[in-house]
Amino acid sequence: MNPINHVAIIMDGNGRWGLKNKNSRNEGHKAGLVALEKIIRQTIDQKIKYLTLYVFSTENWKRPKEEINFLFNLLESFLKDKIEDLHKKNIKLKVIGKKKNFSKRLNYLLNLSEKKTYKNKKLQVNLALNYGSKYELIQSLKSIVKKKININEKNIQKNLYTKNIPNPDILIRTGGTNRLSNFLLWQIAYSEIFFEKKMWPDFNENDYLKIIKKFKLIKRNFGNI
Ligand code: FPP
Repeated sequence: MNPINHVAIIMDGNGRWGLKNKNSRNEGHKAGLVALEKIIRQTIDQKIKYLTLYVFSTENWKRPKEEINFLFNLLESFLKDKIEDLHKKNIKLKVIGKKKNFSKRLNYLLNLSEKKTYKNKKLQVNLALNYGSKYELIQSLKSIVKKKININEKNIQKNLYTKNIPNPDILIRTGGTNRLSNFLLWQIAYSEIFFEKKMWPDFNENDYLKIIKKFKLIKRNFGNI
């Protein structure tokens, strides 16, 4: 049975869920956060060591300002309310993405959360924030050129935001669209990808467990036969 070290999730469908059920996209984001907390708990129960979440992409800045502000306020409240609890649960938080363009307050909270939980070992939750895979790869290549080292697989990997993190075994995208949206394009070269029709707020522990069960039975060849 395949071990699982790392699960990555594109939590898509909040907006559509919110509009359909509460007449408000932002309500969908709130419900998305509730769904996320359940999935974090289940990730711990499954003894998975890394969970990477696509929270805000470099392309999400195109959204209306009001929605962007709502999302960042939600993230701020989440950090303020939950960081102590996450720390107690031995969870490490790490931001992957460009730590630019956030408010001073959010930047402060993100840095504080990272510092506080730095040594935690049970689960590492990577928040992909202002994240874009193409940008990440360009930065990696620029660092390599600057360091005057060889451009090879090992060095590219070592200069990504995700250095020191094993590549995802599983990538899940909810929301019914089958695309990758500039998420971890290098890292998912050999990940098993699961596209789910459910919108993210409806995705629950059972859906997650079903995917884990399916994954465990897949024959992973990594190019071999
Ligand atoms: C995609 O749905 C979701 C996002 C852009 C944000 C994800 C955020 C959360 C799950 C909650 C907040 C999380 C934290 C950690 C505070 P969408 O808006 O693109 O949905 P749509 O495709 O229906 O429009």
